[in-house]
Amino acid sequence: MCGIFGMIGKNAVGNTLTALKLLEYRGYDSAGIAAKRNGHIDVYKTEGRIAALAKIVQGAEETDMAIGHTRWATHGAVCTQNAHPFLSRDGRFAIVHNGIIENYKQLKQTLPSVDFGSQTDSETVAHLLAREYRGDALQAVLTVARLLKGSFAIAIVCVETRTIYAVKNKSPLVVGLSESGAYLCSDVRCISRFAQRVAVAPDNTVVELSAREAKFYDFFGKEKETDFFTADRFDEAENAEGDFMLKEIFEIPEKLLCALDGYKQSDGLQLGRFTVNALKRIYLIGCGTAYNSGLQAAAVARKWLDLDVLPVIASEFLYDNYPVDDNTLAFLISQSGETADTVRAAERVRERGGKTYAVTNTRSSSLTFVCEHTVNIFAGSEYAVASTKAYNCQLEVLTLLLADIAFARGVLSQSRRSELLDELAALPDAVQGILDDCSSLARVAEQIKNCSAVFYIGRTADYPIACEGSLKLKEISYIHSEAYPAGELKHGTLALMEPTVAVVAISTQSELADKTASSVIEVASRGAKVIAVSPRLFDNALSVKLPRLSPETSGIVSVVPLQLLAYYTAKSLGRDVDKPRHLAKSVTVE
Ligand code: F6R
Repeated sequence: MCGIFGMIGKNAVGNTLTALKLLEYRGYDSAGIAAKRNGHIDVYKTEGRIAALAKIVQGAEETDMAIGHTRWATHGAVCTQNAHPFLSRDGRFAIVHNGIIENYKQLKQTLPSVDFGSQTDSETVAHLLAREYRGDALQAVLTVARLLKGSFAIAIVCVETRTIYAVKNKSPLVVGLSESGAYLCSDVRCISRFAQRVAVAPDNTVVELSAREAKFYDFFGKEKETDFFTADRFDEAENAEGDFMLKEIFEIPEKLLCALDGYKQSDGLQLGRFTVNALKRIYLIGCGTAYNSGLQAAAVARKWLDLDVLPVIASEFLYDNYPVDDNTLAFLISQSGETADTVRAAERVRERGGKTYAVTNTRSSSLTFVCEHTVNIFAGSEYAVASTKAYNCQLEVLTLLLADIAFARGVLSQSRRSELLDELAALPDAVQGILDDCSSLARVAEQIKNCSAVFYIGRTADYPIACEGSLKLKEISYIHSEAYPAGELKHGTLALMEPTVAVVAISTQSELADKTASSVIEVASRGAKVIAVSPRLFDNALSVKLPRLSPETSGIVSVVPLQLLAYYTAKSLGRDVDKPRHLAKSVTVE
């Protein structure tokens, strides 16, 4: 969470503001810029979005060195006082920080005479730098780096030098060089707007950035070799009109085709037949929507595979004792490739000898550097905080990967595999049919927008879709929502059914439809409004019609009405659908 940026070059204030707009998806409760000018540092900061910051810096004198920050609060309330940058008391250093300084309380105690102006962990770093400064800024930065524990990407300006420093451990930091200047930033997507020659700073690194070069050191000042590469150019969308979430849902047909073509043209599964046959278990690891795509893919793979396919939430994987050995394969699923829990889980699998594949939308992200292999999902940039098209593409690519494993193990026939490819190729049209009828979802949204709670139910392969529909609704509409396997309702949750509650029943499998019909009657007879999302009609329920598809591919399509339902409900309630409260697009803290 939080985005940081720093640059040496022309129009540093204006460019930092542009960069912060691109980084706003990482957090948007407050923002600030520190600009170095003629022997002093000016700080501009405010609570609120980058637009609020833009008003404050409007008309400010330009300069050629600045750092900036957009915040997602961890330590300390959302207010201007807690916004970054922080100045050291002597005004010599300004810092911005992404991550968490875990030992900040102990470090603060070593600064008894300092009057702290904020409740943040980050401010400590500015005062430590001032204390450790003995005429050499780099030495001060190295000394402070050795004191810090936790996850951090910190950018630092010092009034005495023509250099920006950075300290990096377990929070993403990318460095870029171009004709126009030198840059550092939390993500490759933003930095690629300014520089194509980029390097990802490794953990436990201090960066010394001057106008033309970047030097990398370990925390003891020993220089490190770090490779530069050419970054992809990412599409820029900061000026697009309308809500990104709706735009991104409407891109699903096109992106599904890109994912399928991209997969066919890629190396796919780079494991030999011998390795595949020796596999004992496959983990599908991710967080939030990415985890839900793994949950769904596992439900699909259980139809084919003769080994354990286990979806696991990344943060749970880290603190539980999941077995890993060299016959373990893990797919680490992440749209951003920067989610801290997922990156840590990948490290854990590698440390224990397992094989790792990043399934991601962001090439050159942290996850791709940790995993042995990367499979691109080709969903294109997501700007809305709520993930939509990435889910559909993750699921498509995971289905292909798991089908390849099943085929290599001889448990999926060549003919079924070819049929599957044809079915996947037909999905964009199926999704388009739902999008063309989106106004019907807007009408259903009117029925649920005033509900006190919405429950999503489904059986087996429909349960993960229920989970994703529920997550989408709660995160952008703020209506309480939960997902259950349909049969589980009567073991407790049925007690909550009443007329202010809605139940969304997902039923795509004809052999289970009668069972779902019973669940629908149970909840409807207790007064709940029911919305049935299915190829068939149900009594006592408002119908959202789905096309009939194979059980292996239907999840990729049946989630789309739920994405639209969440969007229209939130919109009707006047929510900020692209930037819901308390959330950020990329969760880079554990
Ligand atoms: C929900 C959502 C989050 C993300 C989760 C993982 O709409 O966007 O739940 O899915 O934070 O993010 P990535 O996929 O970037 O690892």
